[in-house]
Amino acid sequence: MEAFIRGIPKAELHIHIEGSLEPELMFQLAKRNGLSLPFSSVEEVRAAYRFSDLQSFLDIYYVGARVLLKEQDFYDMTWAYLEKAHQQNVRHTEIFFDPQTHTDRGVSFKTVIGGIHRALTDATIRYGMSSRLIMCFLRHLTADAALNTLEQALPFKHWIAAVGLDSSELGHPPEKFVTVFERALAEGLLTVAHAGEEGPPDYIWQALDLLRVSRIDHGVQSTRDSALVERLAAEQIPLTVCPLSNVALRVFDSLQQHNLKQMLDMNLCATVNSDDPAYFGGYVNENLIQVCAALDLSRDDVCRLAKNSFNASFLSDIEKNSMLRELDDYVAGF
Ligand code: HPA
Ligand code: ZN
Repeated sequence: MEAFIRGIPKAELHIHIEGSLEPELMFQLAKRNGLSLPFSSVEEVRAAYRFSDLQSFLDIYYVGARVLLKEQDFYDMTWAYLEKAHQQNVRHTEIFFDPQTHTDRGVSFKTVIGGIHRALTDATIRYGMSSRLIMCFLRHLTADAALNTLEQALPFKHWIAAVGLDSSELGHPPEKFVTVFERALAEGLLTVAHAGEEGPPDYIWQALDLLRVSRIDHGVQSTRDSALVERLAAEQIPLTVCPLSNVALRVFDSLQQHNLKQMLDMNLCATVNSDDPAYFGGYVNENLIQVCAALDLSRDDVCRLAKNSFNASFLSDIEKNSMLRELDDYVAGF
């Protein structure tokens, strides 16, 4: 099963590029930029990665991101993730980035997106890996700040597929961002939102009805609301689930208690993703392998997750069909 999972063609749809920054590269970039970190070694950084909830993670995640200053820094971080994803047979990836984490420190929007986009282009050339970029607004900041960020992004609109919503969920409901999401939709961008990670099912309803999202990021709290489950299943609205993240941030006490299998059995379009792989102990394959073992998922379940990952993506139908054929060939030949 492990070999089957490693080799299966897959898409990743929920990865924060800043969350792929491994401590080794963090130290390298700090040195290159003449910055000091509040940690003395890679081991000390890893030891600090013990979280009690989402906020306790975010506090350290924003500190780590301070080493990113130059276009080349964003390139190097993104390229490191793409190499890893390629090794794990990720054929397509949809990457979140948090411009406000950087523009609020005086780094220009162009520096951020320029470095990330150049790495994505190189991965297409070198590995034939396709990608999309999703720009997230930090929901703990104001709606006006999000609108201002969208305006800075418009000159680069052709590089961005969708806008999203991340950071501290509780107390920052989707309805806070209706105006900026309406504007993004009017500009032809798609929308997604983190909802129901720690927040209640009502935040998922709001994301669907007020922000008109194409997918829900996390969405694991949806199973507490049967009418919501019915809607998500009927409309096959994808949920980008991140099992190792959910355990690291104590959404579930253990992988054995995770509701992924339940979601699949309720005919929800669930996918498995890494969220912040440098912080949560694994990339997409580790997520799949460990959740599969913990929940005793079948080979059919794994195939379904891989199939869902392509169907839930923002690829065109032609691109989806070509990847789904690749998937069928792999399964038939394994
Ligand atoms: N939730 C909210 N915000 C985030 C996350 C997450 O899991 N990862 C990075 N920013
Ligand atoms: Zn996330």
